[in-house]
Formats: sequence, C-alpha cells, structure tokens
Amino acid sequence: MKILVTSALPYANGNLHLGHLAGAYLPADIYVRYQRLKKRDVIYICGTDEHGVPVTISAEKLHKTPHEVVDYYYTSIKKSFKDFGMTFDNFSRTTLPIHHRLAQDFFLKIYKKGYIYPKEIEQHYCSRCKRFLPDRYIIGTCPKCGTEGARGDQCEACGHWLEPFQLIAPKCLVCGEMPKKTKTKHWYFKLSAFQDKLNAWIEKKTDWKETVLTFVKGWLKEGIEDRPITRDLSWGVPVPLDEAQKKVLYVWFDAPIGYISSTIEWAEKCGKPDVWKEYWLNKDTKLVHFIGKDNIVFHALIWPAMLMAYGDYILPSDIPANQFLNLEGDKFSTSKNYAIWLPDYLKNFDADSLRYTLTRNAPEARDTDFTWRDFQAWHNNELADILGNFVNRTLTFINKYYNSSVPKASTFIDSDKRMLDILSKAPTTIGKRIEHFEFKNGLQETMKVVQEANRYFDQEKPWTTRKTEPARCERTMYVCMNIVTSLAVLIEPFLPFTSEKIKKMINFIPQDWDAIAKPKVAPTLGNIEILFTKINDDVISEQVAQLKQEEITIEDFKKVVLKTAIVLEAESVEGSTNLIRCMIEVGNKKRHIVAGIGRYYKPEDLINKTIIIVENLKPAKIRGVLSQGMLLAAEGKEGIILLTTDKPMSSGGIVK
Ligand code: 2FM
Ligand code: ZN
Repeated sequence: MKILVTSALPYANGNLHLGHLAGAYLPADIYVRYQRLKKRDVIYICGTDEHGVPVTISAEKLHKTPHEVVDYYYTSIKKSFKDFGMTFDNFSRTTLPIHHRLAQDFFLKIYKKGYIYPKEIEQHYCSRCKRFLPDRYIIGTCPKCGTEGARGDQCEACGHWLEPFQLIAPKCLVCGEMPKKTKTKHWYFKLSAFQDKLNAWIEKKTDWKETVLTFVKGWLKEGIEDRPITRDLSWGVPVPLDEAQKKVLYVWFDAPIGYISSTIEWAEKCGKPDVWKEYWLNKDTKLVHFIGKDNIVFHALIWPAMLMAYGDYILPSDIPANQFLNLEGDKFSTSKNYAIWLPDYLKNFDADSLRYTLTRNAPEARDTDFTWRDFQAWHNNELADILGNFVNRTLTFINKYYNSSVPKASTFIDSDKRMLDILSKAPTTIGKRIEHFEFKNGLQETMKVVQEANRYFDQEKPWTTRKTEPARCERTMYVCMNIVTSLAVLIEPFLPFTSEKIKKMINFIPQDWDAIAKPKVAPTLGNIEILFTKINDDVISEQVAQLKQEEITIEDFKKVVLKTAIVLEAESVEGSTNLIRCMIEVGNKKRHIVAGIGRYYKPEDLINKTIIIVENLKPAKIRGVLSQGMLLAAEGKEGIILLTTDKPMSSGGIVK
C-alpha cells in the first residue's frame, strides 16, 4: 500500500501562526514521520496556495503586487515549516506553470463531460471601486447565524459556505459602498449531480472523525447546489475558454488540484516523471488530507465531487480535520495581530517545545486553548524534568562511572524484565494511536514510558548498587541505555530535534520503529548535552504582555488628554517608600497627583520640573491620597525616568 499525505496549502498572504501549525501541519508531520519509520511507502505533499482574493486583498493592503506578496510569503512560510521540522517530500506553489496547466486541463475535461456550464447571473458591482466584488470583497451579515462581518464566500463564525448574494446588508470591503447588482457570466460546477454519489461515499466512511462526519452529513442533508467556479479577477489561473476572457478559476477550484501538481513536480524532481501516477492513479493508495475545520466542506464534498467528475484519480481515504486552537482564551486574529507568529516564537524558544505543547493539547476533537503558562509548565515539568532528566541521568552516570562505555548484561531480574516488557510493547501501543490520528494519546503513551523509566531508575538506585552490587548496577544501566535508545526513535515523530540530539549522544542512529522492541545499544557514548533548559517566569511574562498589547486607533489615542505641567510642591506619601505626592500647575489650575517614582527621585528633585501628565484620567485614591491625573515616565533597564520637555515650557501645553 502507498500512502499519500497532504496538508492544506496555506495562502501565501501572511505568516503562519501557532493555530496553523496545530491544525493541519504538525499532525501530518507526526503521521508521516511515523510511517517512514515503519518503512512504508509514504510521501508528504504541500505547497502554497497563491491565488484568490485572500492574496489580492493582502496585496492591496500592503501596496504590493500579488506577485510580490506570494514570492515573499512563499519563502517565509517554507522557512517556518523547515524550522519546525516539517518533512514535506515536496513543497510547491500554485503559481507554477505546471499547476496552471493541470488546473486548466482538469477544468476542460470536466467541462467537456458536461459538468461545467455557463450562466448569466447578477453580481455585486462596486461603482466607487469600479469592479465586480467576488467572495471576500463583500462583507455583510451571515444569513445562517446572523454574525456581522461575514465574508462573501464563507461565514467564519458558523462555517457555512455562502454566496455573496446571500449576505444581508452587503458592503464593499474596500470602500464600504453598498454594491449594485450587475449582469455578468460565470461558469458553474454541477455539484448537484454528485449528491447521490457523495451520500453513498460518505456512508462508508464510518471510521472518520465524528466532527467531520457530522459536518458533512449536515451539508448533504441540506442538499447541495451547483456553484460558480470562475471569478472576475486578474489574478489566478485563466479560465481556458475563449469566451471567458479576463476570468480566472475560483481559488478553491484550483487549490486542491495543487495536491496533484505538487506530486507531479515531486516526481519530476526525483527524475522519475511518471512515478506520481503510482499514487494518484492507484486504488491501493491511502490518500489522507490533513486540514483545519474551516476547510472541511471543500475537502470532503467539493473536491471529491471534482474528482468523481474527472474520473481517473483516487478519492480521499480520510480527512482527519482538526478543530481550532485558541490563544489565551481568544480566537487567533490576523487582522488584530492577535497571534503568535512562528518566526517570532523561534526567537525565544525551541521548535520541539512547541511541537510538544501543540500535540499535548491538540484540538483533535474540540477547540483547545494555548496558554503561555501551560507551555512553560509542560516544558519545565515534563520535557525537562521527565524526558530530559531521564536521558541526562542515564548518560551522565555511564559517562562518570563507566567512562562512557555502555555496560553489557544478559540475565535480568524481575524489575528489569518488567521495564523491558513495557519498552517492547511501546512501539505497538504508540503506533496504533498515531495510525488512528490520536496524536495526543500517542504522545501521552510515550511519556508514560519515560515516567516508568524514571521510576525504574529511582527504584534500582544505581548510585547505591554501584558499590554494593556492581553487576546489578551494570544491568540497570544497560536497561536504561536500551530505554534511551528506544526513546530516540519513539519520540522522533513528535520531537524530531530532540531525537536527533539523543542519537548523537548515544552514537547510534536507530531508524526502524519495529526493531526498537528488541534490546540494542551502541558500545560507547558521544558528548553529552542538556536537552532542555528550564524557561523562567520573566520570559513567559514578557510573552504574555506582548500578546495583551492591543492595537488602538488614532481615535482611541485622541481620547487621552496629555498636557505639560509644572511641579510646584512635592512630598513623600507617609508610610510609603515609593509614592510621591505632587502639587502641579496645569495652565491656570492646580491639582494633586500621586506618582510611584520614589525609588528613583527625591521629592525635592522634582520641584519646578516641566512634566507630562494625563489630564483626563479618572481621579483615584492611592493609599488614601487623591490623585487627579498621572505623570508619564519611562521604565527601562536604567530604572524609571521622568518624561519632560526638550526645552523649559509653560504648563498647560497640549502634547500630541
Ligand atoms: O484555508 C486555506 O488556507 C486554504 N489556502 C487551504 C487550501 S487547501 C487546498 F485545497 F489547497
Ligand atoms: Zn468599493
């Protein structure tokens, strides 16, 4: 059997964040790495989705051409994936000629079979922007769930696929103008012709994820309608028909075909240009699409219908879609910059710590929440204290007492046998979980082995038996080395970088999932390094603070009235070492403010200084003393320094 794994092609219109990784990429990578260790014939295909309105809207916002945008993000996204250890066999892009050709052929073939037909329709036209408004260029209220700001192609809140005309109170995204209806011609895909076939096909998918089946069956029950698959845009795959000048294929028509064109590109790069057919034209291929839940309708209904219409290619075997990952209790939001971007994460932390957290907390069956505190706790208490500790205590012991040469043993006592037994069963237990897309459980099973290993080490007390029963100590360390060696493989799908480090330290590169059930160790150790250093509280607090930093508009900012003031009097607040009460002059008014700068300024230093205050802050009592405003100061590594004006200035000046 061959296995063809894909992850949703990300739009090349922005960087990736944690939510993307958790949804469609990390689980697929774990799955693929495992299958490779099982020596199965697997390929992992992906690339960037470079067409469509998501790209043109970003380009307009950034004042760049779509081409510049996709070139930039293709490179950036590809790098992030590499940095997080994604092992694609090919990472393509949908702007390549090979993809354009394939998408056009696909269109033409099903057009000739009668599954695509033209239709005169009315479409939204913005007379201010002078253009038709496809998909996301229209926003309005979702007719299904009532959410405002729903996009013309899909409501993010309820997941419904929409047609722009279904939106209530539609508006042009760019200028807010109410669009006019204007006639235009588009080509429709006869989705309705596949209702029965899709019903029958889905009926057989009894082992699919419950969440996916519920969603798909709901759609089928409602009845599926024909959909337009062309758009009035200048960016995309041109519709290969003479009468369709200036029209392009709808991005969701061409994107999934990208799975095939990326596989063809892979075959060409391998120097075996036909080998892709052994996957796409082979009934024995297991085709698995990893996606996030917002992509279910496209992968589980429209794409299979397209494949049915086309005829030759295989249909998806499974679509293990994930739910969403939230961030500190809120949804990720690109527009509000509420996200942890992958390149930013890597400035402070290692890839494996995130792979661990995202798998431990994977949104497999329901939405889950990423918090920095969990991240820190799991890194420190599990990766460092359990996994890192076991590997380190074993290797340093052998290094110290056996001069880095691994002791041998052939007879075992019960406690050793029990441990070896756990170890020999682990590959099957963990493997089963991974094969069923239960990555969270798979990781948990793996960590259970490490916990048992630590317990075994504690109970055997090699630090004592070394002196009292040297043969027993040798056995213990031999067993521990077996565990470390097996772990190097067992953790590889989840923590590939750590696996690599362990393999170096043990001078051994085991590469077969099943062989690790049997004891084997290399005779000597390499250099030992610490696998995980603990993450401090202040590093985490800084991340949390960064995230809470909200973007504000100029109107928000204008609400704050900032003025110059002159300090007339100043005294320490009784009973406090840090609070100073100042009498200040603001224009022709006098008022009191209390400031927490006593550790850096003496009251007398403040007299006659021109300072900056927030004038319209609601008065508050601080330690029983009324403060009518707030002075501005900057805090940095030098401590707290007061803000003043560049030149002496009268009070009451407006700061802006
Ligand atoms: O939602 C997205 O990011 C899409 N670009 C996914 C496309 S998946 C596939 F069909 F290419
Ligand atoms: Zn407009």
